[in-house]
Amino acid sequence: MKILALSGSTRAESFNRRLLDIAVAGARQAGADVTVVDLSEYEMPLYNQDFEYSEGVPEAAAELKKLMVEHNGLLIASPEYNGFPSPLLKNTFDWLSRKQTDHEPPMFAFQNKIAAVVAASPGAGGGTRGLTILRIYLQNLCIMVLPGQVTLGQAGQAFREDGRLHNDQIQKATESLGADLFEILQKQSDRLD
Ligand SMILES: Cc1cc2nc3c(=O)[nH]c(=O)nc-3n(C[C@H](O)[C@H](O)[C@H](O)COP(=O)(O)O)c2cc1C
Repeated sequence: MKILALSGSTRAESFNRRLLDIAVAGARQAGADVTVVDLSEYEMPLYNQDFEYSEGVPEAAAELKKLMVEHNGLLIASPEYNGFPSPLLKNTFDWLSRKQTDHEPPMFAFQNKIAAVVAASPGAGGGTRGLTILRIYLQNLCIMVLPGQVTLGQAGQAFREDGRLHNDQIQKATESLGADLFEILQKQSDRLD
């Protein structure tokens, strides 16, 4: 079972990336093969239909789409910007939703994908509002989203030097979310076989 993990923030000290790393560790402990993607290595222009018609899908989007197709599950961390998921995340998924040939089925990159989502924020809300919108967006892309999620508030004070959280309960919940995703992917795979 292969899981692709990505953070909607590429900020050097990103809280979301650090929270994602905990969920990734949980998935790996459960046995998952996880690829962590740094979106700064997949630079794409802001989606523009004229650009797409004249230049086609950017190389970075095509590469990431291929990677997406090769994975069964998604672990996504998203910052909350004014109550919404980050524009980086939305732009990336918008590009990946585009067909590269006339025969490509709609939402090809996202077929049979199951995702788990987490968010971290220096504020008290922990990015919960952003995840509500992110869920709707991912479902529009035909991605199933696990009902469980983790939000981490006051993220500036939440992490220990070793990357773990001071709060054991949230640490365990984040690891468990990664493990749950892996187990559900395994069940889905058994059903499809
Ligand atoms: C334009 C903008 C809007 C923001 N809006 C929110 C918000 O609605 N809720 C929130 O909790 N934090 C908000 N923040 C603060 C972010 O949560 C904070 O910058 C966070 O560190 C971003 O995630 P990262 O640490 O993974 O980069 C906002 C930040 C920016 C730049």
